[in-house]
Amino acid sequence: MTVAGKMPMTSKPAELNYDGHKIEFQVTEGSEGERGIDINKLRDATGLVTIDNGFMNTAATSSAVTFLDGEKGILRYRGYPIEELAEKSTFIEVSYLLLYGELPTATRLKWFEGQLAKHSDTKEGIKTIIKAFPKEAHPMGIASAAVVALSGFYPEYSEGHLTEAQKDEVFPLLMAQLKNIAAYQYRASQGKDLVDAQPKKFDYVTDFLFQMTGKDVDPEVSKALNILLILHADHEQNCSTSSVRLVGSSQANVFASISAGVDALWGPLHGGANQAVIEMLQEIQADGGDYKKFILKAKNKDDNFRLMGFGHRVYKNFDPRAKIIKKACDTILEKLKIKDPLLAIAKGLEEEALKDQYFVERKLYPNVDFYSGIIYKALNIPTNMFTVMFALGRLPGWEAQWKEMVETPSIKIGRPRQIYVGSTERHYQAITERK
Ligand code: ACO
Repeated sequence: MTVAGKMPMTSKPAELNYDGHKIEFQVTEGSEGERGIDINKLRDATGLVTIDNGFMNTAATSSAVTFLDGEKGILRYRGYPIEELAEKSTFIEVSYLLLYGELPTATRLKWFEGQLAKHSDTKEGIKTIIKAFPKEAHPMGIASAAVVALSGFYPEYSEGHLTEAQKDEVFPLLMAQLKNIAAYQYRASQGKDLVDAQPKKFDYVTDFLFQMTGKDVDPEVSKALNILLILHADHEQNCSTSSVRLVGSSQANVFASISAGVDALWGPLHGGANQAVIEMLQEIQADGGDYKKFILKAKNKDDNFRLMGFGHRVYKNFDPRAKIIKKACDTILEKLKIKDPLLAIAKGLEEEALKDQYFVERKLYPNVDFYSGIIYKALNIPTNMFTVMFALGRLPGWEAQWKEMVETPSIKIGRPRQIYVGSTERHYQAITERK
């Protein structure tokens, strides 16, 4: 099934006056009123390119998957507010929504769950790759390697072009496999036997927790993880999603494209922040718990320290996911009767930062990662697995964005320009003549 996005509308053109020439550019408008100047003909018309460090102002694509308004703190998947989905939906339903554009009917949900179940066995070769890693290897490295390795085990889905029927297989296949990979690597790192999936017995999220622990799963734990995965499921053109699209734009296969997304997510400025937040809170705790000292460090420009879990490229008021997570954090800790001193440190840090001029002026607020680690910790998920949990949640979003890209007829290979600032032409010298 393909999902048709609305074509952007055009609005009043923009004019550029440069070097005595006046050039008009078409302005396209999205369904929520966002407007963008289409600069496709800029270089041909003027010889100029645009410079946009960190893509602060560049829309790399139009997309019908996720809408977010950073000023108003709005996040919607396919038009549905994140607050409603987190409260009422499940991760699997949301994954279907992202991939197919609509919430599933009961029949379609059953079909999708059947697809996940059908692909829930993992090839022995993938298990061997996971077990071959040293016990202390980072789970994100293992996840990335195992995902790209799937291309060798499923050559039938390892072309850049897939039919509709192939896409209907490979997206749930990847979801079922990444779940297994995440659980297997944990078991392997503990020197324990791998626990295979039991899709007939458990839903996707409960199955993952069962595969990790080999024990019965508390439904409250499963519910909390469902919410976390829903909140992470997509976030429009972020660093990892843009990596998936960029790699996919070369017609690399879906496994290679998603593996690139895992790699991009790993960094502490992106998905790796959830691990970094807990490590930071533990560091503050070990230092005596004086969080004000760490606020001063974060403000000091001679100190590399940043308040992890704070700030966001697009949210400049609040991150709606952080609000939901903070509430979920209180709820799950209460339900599981856990008193985590890190929560008190996190709340103190947040309160202090939110009234500090430095953070106010720069519009720095807690992001999705600030409280998520405390929940993962309460669910007994080890710190070095937090970012893999993020990847598991983000996978349907990466898939939906990859699918949208390959289904766009006018898609071009992603290939930015540059402004060259290196040496001008010079000539080769024999090694004996070099100084
Ligand atoms: N702590 C202290 N200062 C900060 C922080 C922070 N967490 N974040 C930004 N700033 C400061 C910067 O030093 C800069 O100050 P300046 O104007 O005086 O130079 C200003 O705020 C703007 O920061 P940039 O880094 O230019 O903002 P950008 O939009 O490029 O970065 C980012 C956004 C990467 C999220 C940044 O806020 C950050 O590093 N946060 C901490 C890491 C983090 O939590 N990442 C997870 C993001 S959510 C996600 O990807 C899932």
